[in-house]
Amino acid sequence: MSENKVALVTGAGQGIGRGIALKLASDGFDIAIADLPAQESKATDVIAEIEALGRRAIFVGADVSKKDDVVEAVGRAAAELGSFDVMVNNAGIAQVKPIEEVTEEELDTIFRINVNSVVWGIQAAAAKFTELGKKGRIISAASIASVKGFPILGAYSASKFAVRGLTHVASQELAPKGITVNAYAPGIVGTGMWDEIDKRLSEINGKPIGENLKENVESISLGRIETPEDVAGVVSFFAGPNAEYVTGQTLLVDGGMLYS
Ligand SMILES: NC(=O)c1ccc[n+]([C@@H]2O[C@H](COP(=O)([O-])OP(=O)(O)OC[C@H]3O[C@@H](n4cnc5c(N)ncnc54)[C@H](O)[C@@H]3O)[C@@H](O)[C@H]2O)c1
Repeated sequence: MSENKVALVTGAGQGIGRGIALKLASDGFDIAIADLPAQESKATDVIAEIEALGRRAIFVGADVSKKDDVVEAVGRAAAELGSFDVMVNNAGIAQVKPIEEVTEEELDTIFRINVNSVVWGIQAAAAKFTELGKKGRIISAASIASVKGFPILGAYSASKFAVRGLTHVASQELAPKGITVNAYAPGIVGTGMWDEIDKRLSEINGKPIGENLKENVESISLGRIETPEDVAGVVSFFAGPNAEYVTGQTLLVDGGMLYS
């Protein structure tokens, strides 16, 4: 049996997750894409891109807010691709809303998708690594909003602070098994998420569509919007041989917005 390496990336039907899936495939990983069933046709395109790189890939329909779905996705990745080495808890949503207006349902929704999913991902991956005797890597999506709370992104900021906290805790609890746990903290990445944030900000502050995004990008030291490939480079590092001694970290990859 060949010694192939397998990574599961949640939310890899588009955006940052797609970029991570392609980068890890070019690093030599076979890839399981776990995304909502509605994303299957986009994921099929990503699978074709991965296969063009000479790797194997599968799609698993999953709602990451549900523990059973995440356990099932990890199980299928390992069974169908023949190993399990890296878990990327990437899927997430934004909410643009003043803190005074956030509803009980909205708060539940964003925490289920952005936070509970990370707990399920850590649990499912750690169990599979233990079963297979692997020193696996767990890598989760934080954000600049995990380091600084951003106005009108209150629930989102809180959910990403939670990802950073879970990364601290899980890295210490899983270290005796040789499993590392890290997170990436992007800034402003040109994906569907920022299209939505820009639209909602326009509704709130009346600025024309695109203006809020433009103003935010102007605050980036390196002077350009971030790409999924910028983020994927950091995930590749966390998943690769040079990060063997790195754990519990949340790495800002924001082109120079926040300084830790
Ligand atoms: N775009 C940014 O500027 C930015 C900045 C910092 C952090 N992030 C984080 O990066 C991650 C990816 O963001 P993106 O910009 O690529 O977003 P995106 O909206 O372009 O893509 C998100 C993906 O996650 C999937 N997803 C959403 N809910 C899901 C669920 N319940 N179950 C399974 N899949 C689900 C979507 O179907 C989609 O494929 C998120 O965690 C986000 O918070 C994004």
